Amino acid sequence: MGGVDSSVAAVLLNKAIGKNLTCIFVDHGMLRKNEFTNVLHDYECLGLNVIGVDASARFFGELAGVTDPEQKRKIIGKGFIDVFDEEAHKIQDVKWLAQGTIYPDCIESLSITGTVIKSHHNVGGLPEKMNLKLCEPLRLLFKDEVRRVGRELGMPEHLIGRHPFPGPGLAVRILGDITPEKVRILQDADDIFIQGLRDWGLYDQVWQAGVILLPVQSVGVMGDERTYERAVALRAVTSTDAMTADWAHLPYDFLGKISNDIINRVKGVNRVTYDISSKPPATIEWE
Ligand code: XMP
Repeated sequence: MGGVDSSVAAVLLNKAIGKNLTCIFVDHGMLRKNEFTNVLHDYECLGLNVIGVDASARFFGELAGVTDPEQKRKIIGKGFIDVFDEEAHKIQDVKWLAQGTIYPDCIESLSITGTVIKSHHNVGGLPEKMNLKLCEPLRLLFKDEVRRVGRELGMPEHLIGRHPFPGPGLAVRILGDITPEKVRILQDADDIFIQGLRDWGLYDQVWQAGVILLPVQSVGVMGDERTYERAVALRAVTSTDAMTADWAHLPYDFLGKISNDIINRVKGVNRVTYDISSKPPATIEWE
């Protein structure tokens, strides 16, 4: 993928094995706005040998009509492995698969009490048929430690400081079934929120932020017209490891501005709410 963990793992391995490393970045269609292009560009700037695969049509097809969160994760997890497998077979003599799995990914996917909270797709999904050995250099590290490794490797701050983003991406921020249109709405709203956090100097004060598209429509008024459109929830949390989190106490002025911007600029949304739940008992993502 293209998050902080994968990027640090890639740069670390690049240092160790150089041109023998091939990075595969799969676009499942549920990334943030422009993220696929931006990440590919960043990887190239880091001197990484990267193959970008746009598999969005395939994922949208497989996810059509699916509403259950764990089912979505399973479909995306399997899709990733299939696309990855196809790409890996095009490269000669591959023996190892490297991933940016970190410690909390493993813990949250573990079943200690018999209950899996969320099955992170990069944990334990690797099929035997790929016949590759697994290399996970960050497996015992927490996020702050991964960031320290990245800084030590001289990676730029805009990459290291990026908020975590879940592997299934916006799929777990769209409650209910997924369509390209819903993804477009969410990408636009999310872009306004994240850019706003940067512009107001708040981005680095929160651990993670994003927008959730709710399966709710409500009445509003635009000019003289009645509207009946979607509601979104803004989510921003402070945390040190994502195992526990508090909702971020963002300034009212900022929240007001973002709400106006989203309603005025994102067609299809007429109501914005702010999620004030902490983890536990809520989780960071809504699915
Ligand atoms: P929750 O929602 O469990 O999230 O409080 C904790 C952290 O994990 C991320 N997350 C995921 N990451 N695959 C991932 O790679 C997933 O399925 C997944 N679900 C949640 C979430 O964004 C937060 O950083």
